[in-house]
Amino acid sequence: MKSNRLQFLPSAIMASKFPFLLLVLLSVSLCATFQISMAGDPDILTDFIAPPFSFGPLDGNFFTFTGTREALVKAAFPKTFKVTKAAMAEFPALNGQSVSYAVLQFPKGTVNPPHTHPRASELLFVLIGCLEVGFVDTTNKLFTQRLQTGDIFVFPKGLVHFQFNGDSKNPALALSAFGSANAGTVSIPNSVFNTSISDQVLALSFKTDVATIKKIKYGLSG
Ligand SMILES: *[C@@H]1O[C@H](CO)[C@@H](O)[C@H](O)[C@H]1NC(C)=O
Repeated sequence: MKSNRLQFLPSAIMASKFPFLLLVLLSVSLCATFQISMAGDPDILTDFIAPPFSFGPLDGNFFTFTGTREALVKAAFPKTFKVTKAAMAEFPALNGQSVSYAVLQFPKGTVNPPHTHPRASELLFVLIGCLEVGFVDTTNKLFTQRLQTGDIFVFPKGLVHFQFNGDSKNPALALSAFGSANAGTVSIPNSVFNTSISDQVLALSFKTDVATIKKIKYGLSG
């Protein structure tokens, strides 16, 4: 849609002899492009999306999520990297609100492997410890940063990114906000090596042999 509009515009500019029409076309096009780039989840036409009748009385409880309290207050700090999501699936009141959270717990030396969120950018806030983070843009340029407690980093929408607690002694805790109630996660290791894509396809794609592919698959199979 966006590219059609952009292709259409230069020919309109060349063909048109009417500056006013041109100005209108240009501003309509700019507004539309701006709107597209600002878009989050589709807007709902109600204040919120109420739960089914079977949920019981609609009160503050519907708008409250306590799964993160369990993770942060009640449970012991995990031994492996752990994500506790507060997105639409766990917290139905977020449906239509264009926001969600994830609590990220990194024991010493653990990684959140490369992944993407197809539907949202991510704003990561380091609450405890330090994190090495990075993302790769669509030209394969890598952007990295060493974040300290209190720092915030943004991972642009849809780009491959990771976080790593390189500290050999201390854990790290971060809170990520997403501009979608259902940002979605595509894990690169899992989607490529822990599905049923054939060994042959992967060996050719990664310019290696089937034995190497099998070894990587075995490591992820759990
Ligand atoms: C790989 O897939 C299996 C089966 O779906 C799953 O149990 C396992 O946790 C996955 N591995 C990783 C590293 O997530």
